[in-house]
Amino acid sequence: MRLWGGRFAAHSDEAVAAFGRSIDVDAALALDDLDGSVAHVRGLGRAGILSMAEVTTLVGGLEGLRREVENGELPWDAGLEDVHLNLEAALTERLGDVAGKLHTGRSRNDQVATDLRLWTRRAIDRLDAGLVGFERALVGLAERDGDAVLPGTTHTQPAQPILFGHHLLAHVEMAERDRGRLADARRRVNVSPLGSGAIAGAGYSLDRATTAAELGFDGVTANSIDAVGDRDFVVETLAAVALAMVHLSRLAEEIVWWSNPRFGFVRVADAYSTGSSMMPNKRNPDPAELIRSRSAGTISALTAILGILKGLPIGYQRDLQEDKPSLFGAVATHEASLAVMAGMLATLTVDRIRMADAAADGYTTATTLADGLARHGVPFRAAHHVVGALVAQAEQANIRLLSDVPPAALRKLLAASDDAIARGLATDPGAVAKLLAGATIEASLAAADVVGGTAPQRVTAAIAAARARLDLEAARPA
Ligand code: ARG
Repeated sequence: MRLWGGRFAAHSDEAVAAFGRSIDVDAALALDDLDGSVAHVRGLGRAGILSMAEVTTLVGGLEGLRREVENGELPWDAGLEDVHLNLEAALTERLGDVAGKLHTGRSRNDQVATDLRLWTRRAIDRLDAGLVGFERALVGLAERDGDAVLPGTTHTQPAQPILFGHHLLAHVEMAERDRGRLADARRRVNVSPLGSGAIAGAGYSLDRATTAAELGFDGVTANSIDAVGDRDFVVETLAAVALAMVHLSRLAEEIVWWSNPRFGFVRVADAYSTGSSMMPNKRNPDPAELIRSRSAGTISALTAILGILKGLPIGYQRDLQEDKPSLFGAVATHEASLAVMAGMLATLTVDRIRMADAAADGYTTATTLADGLARHGVPFRAAHHVVGALVAQAEQANIRLLSDVPPAALRKLLAASDDAIARGLATDPGAVAKLLAGATIEASLAAADVVGGTAPQRVTAAIAAARARLDLEAARPA
């Protein structure tokens, strides 16, 4: 029996029925749907609409269905369109006519909105745990190899030396913002639309707040039209997921480069690498590449739901059924990507020597030298000009490190400066030699001694703080 069949003389066309069918996707809502139904039935009992005996029977039937769903024993009937109709039909099969009372004061419109909010709430909690696991892997790697020196790049060109731990903690910051966005979205997810009916509000005086509290919601929606047509919470969740996946993709991109033998900074473990069917030499970082590409799918999911919503009048429209494939797919992608990335980081081997060697390429201590001149009173612009000329000369002379440049070369450039203090310095060979000798990687690192900087003791403290925060997280009751 079609549950909305009364008005219709003819059955719908099979192609049309197949076109509108969503059970393949929304079966994932089954447990949330049963939770919602149990709370709704109890509410109907409290309102005196169902007798206590009916409540007991219906709740018992719904609990039975839950066990069947959990054990994978409930067959989904493709003839029944969606998960809501399937579960109601299954209940009718088991309980008979009394099951027909389940849908009193409820529409599939407020039902599916409730189910999806319950599903999304659980999804957010799983993603949050996944993000914490990912942060643990980042901090674990920072504790292991965080004092390795990495060439910090801007414009993808050598810029200044940084500690590998500092770089990893940048990703921790990004993940923390991702968590914050999910937590913020969760607040607006966690309100109950149940009792909104199809559009006008249920035609019974239901105590919506008690039913909402039973389902763990923080409150109830304030407008029935908005409640059945609102999918902002899907947009917000997908926006948080898409951005978090963009973050993972940027790290994936770095791992792809770092593991290239030309860089040789890291080695991806065997378990996270694949070979080539043709080239016996290949060692490919496939999981990183797949995270990078799948992030695109989550961006598509976000644009899909925004596109669906932009043309809709408020209230429930069937278009809203299409919110689920996007949301479910993106959440699954994000969850799996977090786990794989965490595993890849935990098993990554770092080649500190290759990293430090690369950090010395490209005159990455030039800013430290210019800062040294500026500390003597040379205006920074004049210092910048002198050091720039010195770098050009070192390049010409094939001298790799500024600390190896003969002091006479710097004195000559200082003497030619139009700044009087620079010219004065040129007459002080001891000071010039000291400035050059001090333009080392270690000095560059130590100089960045500001909050948020890469100076070793700053990074050590930041790693310890991140670890302490994660330990607190573990102690927090779920
Ligand atoms: N399968 C539908 C969805 O996901 C359920 C709500 C259908 N409501 C309706 N009036 N056809 O949106």
